[in-house]
Amino acid sequence: KTIRLSEYQAPNYLIDTVHLDVRIYEHYTDVISHLAVRANPDVPTASGQPLELVGVELELLGIEQDGATLALDHFRIDGEVLTIKDVPDQFTLLIMTRIHPKQNTSLEGLYVSKGMYCTQCEAEGFRKITYYLDRPDVMSRFTTRVEAPKQAYPVLLSNGNPVERGDLDDGRHYVIWEDPFKKPCYLFALVAGDLSVVEDHFTTSSGRDVLLQLYVEPHDLDKCEHAMDSLKRSMAWDEEVYGREYDLDIYMIVAVSHFNMGAMENKGLNIFNTSCVLANAKTTTDMGFQRVESVIAHEYFHNWSGNRVTCRDWFQLSLKEGFTVFRDQQFSADMGSETVNRIDDVNMLKTVQFAEDSGPMSHPVRPDSYIEINNFYTTTVYEKGAEVVRMIHRLMGKDGFRKGSDLYFERHDGQAVTCDDFVQAMEDANGVDLTLFRRWYSQAGTPHLKVTSEYVSDQNQFSITFEQTTLPTPGQPEKLPLHIPVAIGLLGADGKDLALQLSDGTVLDPLNPVLELKQAKQTFRFNGIKEQPVASVLRGFSAPVKLFYEQERAELAFLMSHDSDGFNRWNASQRLTVEVLLDLMSAYQEQKPLYVDSLLLESFRALLADESLDQAMVAKMLELPTEQFLAELLPKPVQVDAIHHAREGLKRELACGLRQELQQVINRCHMDPEYHYNVDAVAKRSLRNVCLAYVMTLADDEATELCLSQYREAGNMTDQLAAFRALAHSERSEKTQVIADFYQQWSSEALVVDQWFMVQASSPQPDALDNVQALMQHEAFEMTSPNKIRALIGAFCNNNPVNFHRLDGAGYAFLADQIIALNNINPQVASRMSTILTRWANYDRVRADLIKAQLTRIKAEKLSPDVYEIVSKALNQ
Ligand code: ARG
Ligand code: ZN
Repeated sequence: KTIRLSEYQAPNYLIDTVHLDVRIYEHYTDVISHLAVRANPDVPTASGQPLELVGVELELLGIEQDGATLALDHFRIDGEVLTIKDVPDQFTLLIMTRIHPKQNTSLEGLYVSKGMYCTQCEAEGFRKITYYLDRPDVMSRFTTRVEAPKQAYPVLLSNGNPVERGDLDDGRHYVIWEDPFKKPCYLFALVAGDLSVVEDHFTTSSGRDVLLQLYVEPHDLDKCEHAMDSLKRSMAWDEEVYGREYDLDIYMIVAVSHFNMGAMENKGLNIFNTSCVLANAKTTTDMGFQRVESVIAHEYFHNWSGNRVTCRDWFQLSLKEGFTVFRDQQFSADMGSETVNRIDDVNMLKTVQFAEDSGPMSHPVRPDSYIEINNFYTTTVYEKGAEVVRMIHRLMGKDGFRKGSDLYFERHDGQAVTCDDFVQAMEDANGVDLTLFRRWYSQAGTPHLKVTSEYVSDQNQFSITFEQTTLPTPGQPEKLPLHIPVAIGLLGADGKDLALQLSDGTVLDPLNPVLELKQAKQTFRFNGIKEQPVASVLRGFSAPVKLFYEQERAELAFLMSHDSDGFNRWNASQRLTVEVLLDLMSAYQEQKPLYVDSLLLESFRALLADESLDQAMVAKMLELPTEQFLAELLPKPVQVDAIHHAREGLKRELACGLRQELQQVINRCHMDPEYHYNVDAVAKRSLRNVCLAYVMTLADDEATELCLSQYREAGNMTDQLAAFRALAHSERSEKTQVIADFYQQWSSEALVVDQWFMVQASSPQPDALDNVQALMQHEAFEMTSPNKIRALIGAFCNNNPVNFHRLDGAGYAFLADQIIALNNINPQVASRMSTILTRWANYDRVRADLIKAQLTRIKAEKLSPDVYEIVSKALNQ
């Protein structure tokens, strides 16, 4: 069934208070819910309407209205809807239901992960706990009593503050929690388990002392420090940058192994995937540390952007997610390198979101319709949504944006609102009109921005013309021009930025020079340009568009070494690399010898030699674009094999031509005995390890020895895993021993075992699929663990294009088998996996037909709405 934004109706009933009594027994759990219900005064027709509550997989034990058992002819259950007739305008309900958390493998509602009870209610999981008005615009005050056997579940948690606890007969105990803030049920949480806790404190700017608690399994106590530290920095940052203070006396985070997503911002009780909270030097890479920092921040920031001000309906999901991703990106930029963070975020956007936006699942940042809302926790809603907020930030400026966010939080505190309310607050606080800008929320697809430029020397004028078009997407055949901020610079021969004055006299802000496009085609003329400049367009990736601007290789090399915008300096190096890769792809297809443009080789040589450059940037520039990035960027059908071989060839040619320089960098960036997580140390490790990977593409004895010694001597996971990966992906026979050894060393660390699966699944060697299939039987693999599925199946299908897209179709058949199996176990994860198959139209006939055959095979099964939506949309394009 399709749900549409245009059919939104305010709820007929509101629930003012909820008292939940959750009693955990060995084989089942009973949930007793007391609701105070009243007709919605804002809906004139509400009075007298039947009350419709939703529930999924619940056993109804009894129901009372105003203290009296409800007669059978007063209610009925129809599928997922419990309808109660003839209700007064105000009444109480008592609903008793029984659920079976131990059998719940969907990881939605109340479930059990490694013996510990936990919940995931967003988006619509609360209905798996009790009958309720499971929609975000119904906000209530919750009191929760949790009762369980004391020995097995000494820790009992829920939202808010603990107000009472006590022991009961039969070795049972209980705790009562009270959350003073009204909230929608998707923010409800409950945990019961045998957990250890790490505690700390934070004093807010107004002097409130907040107890911070991080609950983990006992053997993970040595991996809590980084998350706790990140949390305190997030709390201080949100006060400083957004003026937002924490509002409860206690902030709890619980780490669980089995979790569908990264983490969840439940009020006062965040629940985290272990992979997004646990970290220490021995078991976690620098990337892992970064991820923990940003997810901790993300969930914390939700306390204001999501919880205090929440979404009216799920079409508004980006209201909280886009804004909160933007906030966590700003935070990470402030904690580390702004440019490097921007590069990583844009790379991911261009690889994943652009692909989504050109396929059958393309949807606006604020979708118009869905079958299953869980399918819309997408990179479009999250990352493109964040880009839209970032554009507002650029258009309003830092201070204007803060005025707007202050007004937004003040105006809507305690409310469930829309994306439009957010834009309205920005407009009202700044006295601007963002009518045209709003199209970014409603129009799907990535705009193409074609740029041409001309220099007329005798007029000292440089003119630049922009043409924007957006291709049709499902349900949106016609597209309109968008309001696009284009940050720009013109470089003189000395590499310095020229002053920018338009022909109408406007002088662009030298600190933030931006051209605002509002029409399909627009030309801007700059006067007083005394020499032919080199244009740096879309600095900082100021808008989520595909830029088409032809620039000479020499110009790109010039930008690469001179652009004052770090992002564009990196981008120029990527564009130059792509040009060279295109040379190599044609050489591969014409079976000619590979030839690498010396411009690239010499640019890289200069990068390696220059110790004065930001070493993290050098590492980023040396990293070749991934095969997935190239697949999205280059013309279709995707040249799977040519891309792979050109890229591998380029790595080898560069390694060959720069061997000495690479070795020198490796020597210079020697491994430190002690691990520190800071910008310089991370930069040094990343540069060393990029160079190591290059050298190992040669796979000679010397390179192998280098990797083996790094693998043995590394004192942290970043260096150890880099060496491990280089060896495991090589053809060297030594790798068999190393792969076995790595598992031996780390078999008791689940998150390291995930890395071990991931490295093997992404091997370019032709036996990758056989290995993946064998690893499905490994003792450490678990079909009920999303982390394991992502590490093995996900890594193979997403990060190993040349093997996944094997011409015999074995990769596709393998994935389809897993989707069919997962559909019954965990529909959300199954659905995630199936999005990979939606890209069939990007491939050649042979591959497209093979993929479609697998989609058809999946569609013939009895499917969850999650998988059904993806597969049917994929086949109907
Ligand atoms: N709100 C969470 C976050 O972004 C994501 C949880 C979504 N979960 C889901 N099953 N759809 O931080
Ligand atoms: Zn979020």
